[in-house]
Amino acid sequence: MKTPLFFALGLAAILVALSNCQQQTAEAGNPTAPEAPKEDPVKRGEYLVSILGCDDCHTPKNMGPHGPEPDMTRRFMGHPADEPFATDDKKKMIAEQHVAIFSPGMTAAAGPWGVSYAANITPDDTGMGAWTEAQFLKAIREGKNKGMDGTRPILPPMPWPLYRNMTDDDLKAIYAYLKTVKPIKNAVPAPKQL
Ligand code: HEC
Repeated sequence: MKTPLFFALGLAAILVALSNCQQQTAEAGNPTAPEAPKEDPVKRGEYLVSILGCDDCHTPKNMGPHGPEPDMTRRFMGHPADEPFATDDKKKMIAEQHVAIFSPGMTAAAGPWGVSYAANITPDDTGMGAWTEAQFLKAIREGKNKGMDGTRPILPPMPWPLYRNMTDDDLKAIYAYLKTVKPIKNAVPAPKQL
């Protein structure tokens, strides 16, 4: 008779321990995931930009031990005007294999659409200094260069077809944050045919 009782008690103890454990996990949450700030648009924008990968393309890189690392002293200046990106010898490969290639700093890309250079999105005159909030929303929602009607479409690999799904508040928050970053003078080259 003893064995089943011990077994039952043991099982009960395990169940209590398990439910405690679940409670603790629910209470503690995931300590590595910070809560998204909601109130201050600039803080919200900073948070969004930190997870949406804008640095991947708009910030030049330095080569570090783990590969290219964003150079935050040049944050968001786009493709450096004085950095060459030779694509002439890649034309054939791109045309025949439909591949795309990036510059080492990932600020310029060449593919079937031609050669595109990540824009300067700092608040300098050579960047988005003169842009209104409405222009920024139009650029991302409609993929219009400079956020103006009658301009060319914004080329790949700028992922505006995904970013256009953001709420107005989130887009406005990104605009507000980008207005606060250090302005950097850098006139990014215009896109060209391969
Ligand atoms: C995968 C690369 C990539 C990522 C990620 C990316 N961009 Fe871009 N972006 C580009 C490229 C390349 C261009 C220039 C395309 C062109 O010339 O048509 C561009 C253009 C833009 C433009 C239009 C500039 C103009 O003059 O019309 C804005 C605004 C912009 N990006 C903002 C952002 C923001 C904000 C983020 C992050 C939320 C971001 N981009 C993420 C590659 C990227």
